[in-house]
Amino acid sequence: MTTELQATVDALVQQGKGILAADESGPTIAKRFKAIGVESTEENRRAWRSLILAAPGLGQYISGVILYEETLAQNGDDGEPLPQLAARQGIVPGIKVDAGKCPLALAPGDEITLGLDGLAQRLDGYKQQGARFAKWRAVYNVSDVLPSRAAIEANAEALARYAAVCQAQGVVPIVEPEVLIDGDHSMARCAEVTQAVLHEVFHALRRHQVALEHMLLKPSMVVPGKAHAQQAAPAEVAAHTLRVLRRTVPAAVPGINFLSGGQSPVEATANLDAMNRLGALPWSLSFSYGRALQDTAMQAWRGQSANARRAQEALLQRARLNGAASCGQYSASMESAG
Ligand code: 13P
Repeated sequence: MTTELQATVDALVQQGKGILAADESGPTIAKRFKAIGVESTEENRRAWRSLILAAPGLGQYISGVILYEETLAQNGDDGEPLPQLAARQGIVPGIKVDAGKCPLALAPGDEITLGLDGLAQRLDGYKQQGARFAKWRAVYNVSDVLPSRAAIEANAEALARYAAVCQAQGVVPIVEPEVLIDGDHSMARCAEVTQAVLHEVFHALRRHQVALEHMLLKPSMVVPGKAHAQQAAPAEVAAHTLRVLRRTVPAAVPGINFLSGGQSPVEATANLDAMNRLGALPWSLSFSYGRALQDTAMQAWRGQSANARRAQEALLQRARLNGAASCGQYSASMESAG
């Protein structure tokens, strides 16, 4: 089991590479498709996801892909199962296993993630379909009073129980506590909440005997709320985020792969780059972006197979730039060079 987990971690954590999140749930992918005038049918979702997984050379910059349950059972245009197509590209297939969130009872404004019931059995099936790692997302709304202690503790407990079940099944867990960017809170408030959240998450992981060496952390960056008057430059985001991570994430964790969480593609790349320029870090610091990797490609596609090649090139370009950022070797001038 340990060898299996270690092999997956080694395949995921590679210099210059990151993870592609393509695990949007039904309602979320419908929202993304609506923005480009595409209806969310099973065939359109298959077409899009097979297009991105088939992008020539994607495995140069992408070490793993997070898939949605439906995708695990779908085939590419030539009939090859999509997890197999990813693996052929040198990309480890993974699976989102949480069942989404709902309001946390008696805690107005807080949410809790569902999906622990029957998780071991589901994982068994996903593994047979090719998945080697998993993802579970907890979300935290931010205000002067949110998230409550109850929400911080309940979500940490769920994340840790999920991670323990994964490791017991030989599946590497990606632990994703997302402090939301929505709202007008300051960067200092985001830092305070992120620190409290991560502190509690690692306590819970310890309590549940999760091997830190065999998991990845997928956090949000420390940024001001989207509606806050003052936005922050990459150097500031990098300094604040790293301070919180250094205080809370043990060095035994091999990799931290950020979510983009509503940052623009260029912001997400520049912020990651700024962190990797700050010198020696105990963990590999890379990306696990959904929107920040897919948005420009989706704009190029617009549901038309004639645009497939251009869409794949757009995806490859963002993957390449984020690969550079994960080594602290990105520069804005690379945005215009095709
Ligand atoms: P974003 O990068 O679009 O935030 O998506 C990452 C993800 O997997 C959210 O769960």
